[in-house]
Amino acid sequence: MRQIRLSAAVLTALALTLPASAAAAADDQPATGLHQNTALRDAAPSGFVIGSAVAGGGHHQDEDYPDPFTGDQEYRRILGEEFSSLSAENQMKWDHLRPSRDGYAFDDADAIVAYAQDNGQDVRGHTLLWHSQNPDWLENGNFSQEELREILRDHIETVVGRYAGQIHQWDVANEIFDDGGNLRTGDNIWIRELGVGIVGDAFRWAHAADPSAELYFNDYNVEDVNAKSDAYYELTRELLAEGVPVHGFSAQTHLSLQYGFPSGLQTNLERFEALGLSTALTEVDVRMQLPGGAEPTEQQLADQADYYARALEACLNVSGCDSFTVWGFPDKYSWVPNTFEGEGGATVYWDDYTTKPAYDALLETLLAAG
Ligand code: G3I
Repeated sequence: MRQIRLSAAVLTALALTLPASAAAAADDQPATGLHQNTALRDAAPSGFVIGSAVAGGGHHQDEDYPDPFTGDQEYRRILGEEFSSLSAENQMKWDHLRPSRDGYAFDDADAIVAYAQDNGQDVRGHTLLWHSQNPDWLENGNFSQEELREILRDHIETVVGRYAGQIHQWDVANEIFDDGGNLRTGDNIWIRELGVGIVGDAFRWAHAADPSAELYFNDYNVEDVNAKSDAYYELTRELLAEGVPVHGFSAQTHLSLQYGFPSGLQTNLERFEALGLSTALTEVDVRMQLPGGAEPTEQQLADQADYYARALEACLNVSGCDSFTVWGFPDKYSWVPNTFEGEGGATVYWDDYTTKPAYDALLETLLAAG
């Protein structure tokens, strides 16, 4: 077992929040005892949610372990204890929900929503309009424009309507721009066939199906002020001027130690907030180069902790950013090694569910903010 070492900053923060007798006792406790009593969700300031993706579907289907959400009891326990928001990693995507044009497969999504309710957690819905993970019957169906509009409208009304009042934020449109800030007119079937106007319609349909849900644009590589985030800024301004119910902008925040930290993150979130939007960091992880399955070095772990803490701080510093979600844990369930050969170690938990310095950095940052 790795020992958890909490810094002086955490101990000071705890001493400030505990009665004197408890604080004195905490001083005498081994750091692990302190950690066991302070989950991330409890350390978070009031109204600020700390989320995780719920592992299942996607790349997990190719692995030889059981379905994490239903088959790994330790995973499930930590998911409930540490986090106050859940995101479906794959279970609400089209390829999962829509085995056929006429059918919906809600079992896995229902199970996440039920678990969240049992554990007093918010749910982020992911996602309604995307270029990826669409079923073959949709991508290769040669549908007319009218049919495609009807398929999307029915999907959004059915899915958002089913969870009305239970899913707090929806990633309505996911990754609609490329890194150059150009609309994905080639690989996004909706935009290619129906034009950019379908994006506004998707938000309108979702809002009609659940007026209480916050509706988001969500993408990666939009942490900094850059061509891609500029494109979202301009489109959002246009849609808001037209009265389209866009409520939020979220940066996925898949970071890598081989690139510098996106130092414009807070400034970028602030400009979306100035438009009247909520903001969120929705898929945070920090990967590193581990060639040949190498173990992370102390320096890599320290750098990773720094990236996680800086991302969380940026969000905490923006008043409308009240949701910070990690894209899964522990490392053995992460999507990263599956996609980036020779990279990994991206989450805040080791495979035996002991915590990394990055976990401590999140805890410290939350306690300091609270
Ligand atoms: O569809 C193919 C199938 O045809 C093929 O036979 C099979 C062989 O491995 O792969 C299937 O694709 C898999 C896909 O999920 C659909 O099940 C990919 O290998 C697998 O890598 C993919 O993983 C998911 C990925 O989204 C898909 O884009 C990951 O589990 C999931 O963590 C990841 O999550 C995304 C967010 O939704 C959006 N932001 C980026 C984030 C990380 O990529």
